[in-house]
Amino acid sequence: MKKQHMPRRRPMVGWFDPRVLAHSAYLVAISNVFGRHSDTRLIEALASQPQNEFDYSHATGDFWLDYVADIGDGWNPTYAIADAIAQPELEVADDDGVRVRTEPGRVLIFGGDEVYPYPTRAEYDMRTETPYRLAFAGRARPDLFAIPGNHDWYDSLIAFSRTFCRPERGFATCRTRQTRSYFALKLPANWWLFAFDLQLGQELDEPQVQYFKKVGALLDDQTKIIACVPEPRWILEDAYPRHESYEEESTRQFLELQVLKRKVSVYLTGDLHYYKRHENAEGVQKITSGGGGAFLHPTHAPKTHVLRDGFVQKAVYPDEKTSRGLSWRNLRFPFRNPKFMWLPAFLYAMSAWLASASLQAADIVDLPTALSRSINASIRDPLNGMWLVGIIASFIFFTDTHVRWWRILGGVGHAFAHLAAAFLVGWLSLLATVNLLHMSFGSVAQLLTSGLITFVSGGLAGGFIMGLYLLVSVRFLGRHSNEAFSALRVQDFKQWLRLRVAPNGTLTIYSIAIDTVPRRWRATARNGETTMEAADPRATRPRIVDKVTIGPAVSGISG
Ligand SMILES: [Fe+2]
Repeated sequence: MKKQHMPRRRPMVGWFDPRVLAHSAYLVAISNVFGRHSDTRLIEALASQPQNEFDYSHATGDFWLDYVADIGDGWNPTYAIADAIAQPELEVADDDGVRVRTEPGRVLIFGGDEVYPYPTRAEYDMRTETPYRLAFAGRARPDLFAIPGNHDWYDSLIAFSRTFCRPERGFATCRTRQTRSYFALKLPANWWLFAFDLQLGQELDEPQVQYFKKVGALLDDQTKIIACVPEPRWILEDAYPRHESYEEESTRQFLELQVLKRKVSVYLTGDLHYYKRHENAEGVQKITSGGGGAFLHPTHAPKTHVLRDGFVQKAVYPDEKTSRGLSWRNLRFPFRNPKFMWLPAFLYAMSAWLASASLQAADIVDLPTALSRSINASIRDPLNGMWLVGIIASFIFFTDTHVRWWRILGGVGHAFAHLAAAFLVGWLSLLATVNLLHMSFGSVAQLLTSGLITFVSGGLAGGFIMGLYLLVSVRFLGRHSNEAFSALRVQDFKQWLRLRVAPNGTLTIYSIAIDTVPRRWRATARNGETTMEAADPRATRPRIVDKVTIGPAVSGISG
């Protein structure tokens, strides 16, 4: 057989790589400043072809639909999920060992964050489209629809629009039909699926409201609604109740009361990279399903057992014990994020340099003298003082809380841990060069050598302290869930949703997970098309981690 070509497989995004950190901060700032003032959806809506609802209501038999969110990160998890979704017939067992035969969706929905870390055409191609194209090679292709998440919005939706909103182009050899960043699907048995674009947590724009009002006029009293939204506000507003954006009128109420004029039965979202299902007394479901490929978020922090809106957590994956256990991996922070060490290496070396400028040879013989001289210098020397204030302010800004005193306490404490370590590392470097290497204090050779020692050991020490800070925050204080787990770059515990609408109107939602994704692959051919298959015996099979059924009789429910 002809040798098949292996595509370039990307590793998980290194969120603590200083270049990624700097570019992310830049994009978030730009999109927050300009994205909120120039709404490209208006331009897009005016320029694009009119978009109606997409009708799948005439499908016969069971209607299957797949929903996957937070997708294009590292190759292993993204391709593992894509391959499982594309399998022509997937038999999956639940916790009790009961086997269920499922079918691939007639429709595949991408629920947001289709690529990481930034949305460029090349990243969409390499991290998302190539894995899905190979997964569907030689297999039946679904119709593909997508709504943008915050990562898709970082370039004002330009790459997203080009990728998903041009029906003549298609995506990963699948048919695409939408021309806007939102859409409505008419499903069998009077179920409808509405997918909204909330542009970085803002409210709905007017063309979108008009679109959904127009489509909403087609609904009747028995219609049941699935709403796809880009983020789980029900969880975010619970974790950050003081955040200004959650004090506005609830988007959910606006959707139900003003736009659709109907109650929603099921909310689907991603954004947080785990699986959680919340339910209220009327049986309304709020499902967070962001396991399509991106790094795992912790399920134990923050706590979401009972939400402010009265919804109760009914299912979670991975379980909280597993999540707490994974937190400890932050002790290996420097080795999981080696590029991050450039940052503390530079900061420690600079801090030690500034502090040592005021020291004499006699000052370094004992620790208390060196310390008091350095503190003195930082108070008296404006450059020293400004450097210290800048570092402390940065750590206060970084601290993950909206409670001011806690932010100050946490930030100052974290900053002083690093400053103390920088001082200690710098002082030991001075001692080593003067006392052990017998270099002349203040000579160029001595300064360069101690600077190099501080740089290297400071990078390592700073990495460990950062890992320790994140471990304590996420394991014991329920904070920094994003930073502490993006640092771990966990590829495993991935999942997606498979929905089945039965002809009698019963909707069943399966959450299907892969505990351990393959690390090794081999290129092969399937029905004459090039593809990849797993070649890793440690990988586990997809399994059902949750199932919920919504009967056709459920109606008139309130959210
Ligand atoms: Fe995400």
